[in-house]
Formats: sequence, structure tokens, C-alpha cells
Amino acid sequence: MTADIIDIRTDRDHGIEAACQVLGEGLPVAVPTETVYGLAADATNPSAITRIYETKGRPRFNPLICHMADLAMAEHYAVFDPISRKLAETFWPGPLTLILPLKPESGIHALATAGLDTVGIRVPKGFASDLIRAFGKPLAAPSANTSGKISPTRARHVADDLGEKLKLVIDGGTAPVGVESTIVRVEGDTIRLLRPGGIAAEEIEKITGTAIERPKGAAAIIEAPGMLASHYAPGAQVRLQATEAKAGETLIQFGPEAVRNSNEAAAMFNLSPSGDLAEAAANLFDMLKRADATGARVIAVAPIPNHGLGEAINDRLSRAAAPRDT
Ligand code: TXA
Ligand code: MG
Repeated sequence: MTADIIDIRTDRDHGIEAACQVLGEGLPVAVPTETVYGLAADATNPSAITRIYETKGRPRFNPLICHMADLAMAEHYAVFDPISRKLAETFWPGPLTLILPLKPESGIHALATAGLDTVGIRVPKGFASDLIRAFGKPLAAPSANTSGKISPTRARHVADDLGEKLKLVIDGGTAPVGVESTIVRVEGDTIRLLRPGGIAAEEIEKITGTAIERPKGAAAIIEAPGMLASHYAPGAQVRLQATEAKAGETLIQFGPEAVRNSNEAAAMFNLSPSGDLAEAAANLFDMLKRADATGARVIAVAPIPNHGLGEAINDRLSRAAAPRDT
């Protein structure tokens, strides 16, 4: 099987129609979202969900985010406390995932939630939510990459990685946010950040008026089982906080100032020459892939500030640099 690719920038109606057809057959479709490309399938159909896990080679204890067309649809499947509702009203459609109590018997299959009594829900921007509305059911969708590898921000990334295993890839151009959604869980007055992502924690704090809690280490992994340490792994080793380049390394810089000895590097990229964190997030996964494709043994990455979207960037980079469990 080699995936058909439909470009929705020229052929949107055809894209919706063809995607609904494949989803209706119980098969996954790769679709653009504002964060990264997702591998979407009917969240109520166990064999469709099984196909997602198989296609990605993903462990089944790692639950999937269920994507909804809007808040009204989401309320069908999950119970909203007042703070979660306010966050949904503020940030949806957009890169925020809320972990909420699942309404039993609502139709989302236990394979999508890995049997938990909670469900991760988000309303994506643009094509993906139009598709969900047309399909009429929630779509379970992890990032459309082989488990453990770098997430795709272009249709080409998906086709190169999973094209032989899929029937259809929808091309919506480059994903504008570039890192996955921020995942939060509200319990009483406590708001916990389970994964930094496309909405800065500071933006959420502005709305809720309380400081977000960041679970650390083992607690974070149990809470969001997908947050396994080694992830986003390129073939090369990744060296972080590089303030100087070593001979033969491929260098990923940030901002206008070059790191020391940058002329020693075999190849060079810059996530954002002007030092803009949103631009850096949008470029992150594509530049990691391109840096990896240079064949360097080591990718050295300059320090990135840890505020705003920098928190998500540094989270993904530290996973890319983590020891591999091979
Ligand atoms: O931006 C995104 O969120 C992208 C696009 C495609 O929407 N999706 C994405 O999915 O990043 P995935 O599967 O790569 O990450 C889902 C994360 C995992 O870390 C998983 O553990 C967590 O969400 N998760 C899902 N349901 C959960 C639940 N009920 N409780 C705790 N964590 C949950
Ligand atoms: Mg992923």
C-alpha cells in the first residue's frame, strides 16, 4: 500500500470526503492539525484504534487524545469542572488538551483511553475539526510518526515514515505551531501541567489566576504514560546547552548570536535568527530531521530560554537527548 496524498489547500472538499470514506472503513488517516500531523481514527471503533497502535508500533498502555469538533461535542463524552470549561472556552480550538473524567457508556472505546476512567480531549484548529464535524464522531489521534521518533510537521514527513502503511495522507502544508498540545489536568483548585506544549503555561496561568503545578519524574510518567523519557529520537546523539561547536558536529542555533567556534560545525541551522520562540517551535522538528539527515554523529543544540514556548521546546529536546532504551 502506498498512501494517496490529497492537498486540501487546492482540494479541500475532496479531502474531507476521501478522509470520511477511509475513516468509515475503520482505517486511520494522517491529517494536519495546527500542532503536528495526527494519525486519526474513529475513537468509538476498537479495530480502527488498534490500527493506530499497530501502524505506529505504539505501546497500548499509552492512551490517545480524542479530538472533538467543538466544546458541545466534547461535553457528550467528558465531565467538565468550571476551570476546565473556562480553559476550553478560552483556548479551543487550539493546542490545549484537557484530561477529564470520561462519561461511561458515552461511546469512546476503552482502547483509546487505555482503560483509564479519564479521557484526554482537545479541539484542533482548522481542517481537523471540520473533518470531525463531517465524520460526526470523535477522532483518536496521536502524532503520525513511528513511536519514539520525531513528530511530523509536514505531510512529506508522514509519507516518508508511514506512507507504505497508510491509505491516505491529507496535506495541509506546514503545521504552524510545530509542537504538540499542552496537556493539563484540573483537580479541585490544582492545575497540573502534564506536558508543556503549544500554549505557554503562563497563558493558562493568566486565565486561571493560579500557578500551574509541574509533576516531576516518575509522577509525571504515571500521570501521562506517553511521556517516556526517550522520545523524538533522531539517529544522531543530541548534545544540549551547547555554547561552543566541536569539529564535525551539526549545529542548531537559536537567536542572532553565533555560539563559539560555530565555523567548526559541519552544518548549521538556526531555529529562529531573531530569537522568537514561536518561530523556533514551528521549526523544531523539521530542523531536527534535517540535522539528522546530514549524517553527523552529534547534533549540538544551543541553549533555548525556558519561558513561554521555550518550555515545550526544551522538553522535546531533552527527550531527544535522553539515553535510548535499545
Ligand atoms: O498536539 C497534539 O496533542 C497531537 C495532535 C495530533 O493532536 N497529538 C499528540 O498525541 O501529541 P500523542 O498520542 O503523541 O500524545 C498524547 C499524550 C500522551 O502522552 C498520553 O499519555 C497523554 O496524551 N494522554 C492521553 N490520554 C490521557 C489520559 N486519560 N490521562 C493522562 N494522559 C493522557
Ligand atoms: Mg507523539
